[in-house]
Amino acid sequence: SETCRHLHHDEYQKTADWLMSQTKHRPQVAIICGSGLGMLADTLKCQDSFAYSDIPGFPQSTVQGHAGRLVFGELKGKTCVCMQGRFHMYEGHSLCKTTFPIRVFKLLGVETLIVTNAAGSLADGFHPGDIMIIKDHINFPGLVGLNPLCGPNDDKFGPRFPAMSGCYNKDLRRLAMEIAKEHGVASVIQEGVYAMVGGPNFESIAEARLLHRLGVDAVGMSTAPEVVVAAHCGLRVFGLSLITNKVVKSYEDSESVNHDGVLEVGRLRSHTVQQLVTELVSRIEIN
Ligand code: 6GU
Repeated sequence: SETCRHLHHDEYQKTADWLMSQTKHRPQVAIICGSGLGMLADTLKCQDSFAYSDIPGFPQSTVQGHAGRLVFGELKGKTCVCMQGRFHMYEGHSLCKTTFPIRVFKLLGVETLIVTNAAGSLADGFHPGDIMIIKDHINFPGLVGLNPLCGPNDDKFGPRFPAMSGCYNKDLRRLAMEIAKEHGVASVIQEGVYAMVGGPNFESIAEARLLHRLGVDAVGMSTAPEVVVAAHCGLRVFGLSLITNKVVKSYEDSESVNHDGVLEVGRLRSHTVQQLVTELVSRIEIN
């Protein structure tokens, strides 16, 4: 199928080997920066950065507001690799291309994956600017077979039938909540269920109502495939959604979302997200 071209282990290994030949950094933590949240990568010390277009085997990013570089460096004494810009299914990438970096990170020695994204909220108590700690996800594309793990299983990475329960690590969620309290930002922190839809269009009102009734707290167009592949190969995962807008659920509501608004809220709250992630990295226990 076109979902996945069934990449061979060697293709991930080649990219990992190339990166290790270009940088001395050996990251313990990988961070995916979502829409408008890329400046975290700029704070890394002793940076080595690579445009996606220069990395053998890497897909290319096509969305505005997503820079498209891999940045290695030190953050609070831990070695990190940041994706400044991610790959989305709606760009037309196969799902194994969108999740390609995750397995490369695994081969680089990464143990913890931190994912961030911009999302629209459905939960009644959520507001633009809130930061949602992802407790669980609903992978809508995955439920109908659009899953990066489709195809022959690569046992070197993980099992044929991986569990997804507990894939958003409980200790990291608790730690993030503690950090938020210490920094006096607990009032903007939520915890909830993220649903991935395919995009690129935002939801119709009927679709928004459906998601709301299904218990979805926030909806976006990314993250679930990366987390599925990360959980498959045994990475510990922490996820944050920056709520950039309320999803329109009423026919009386004249507001509609747009990408510029999404990026704007990202910029306004990006400092808080950056603080949280930085402090989390600082206090993560490395095995
Ligand atoms: Cl309203 N929907 C989706 N699917 N993704 C979003 C969003 C909405 N707002 C930000 N990202």
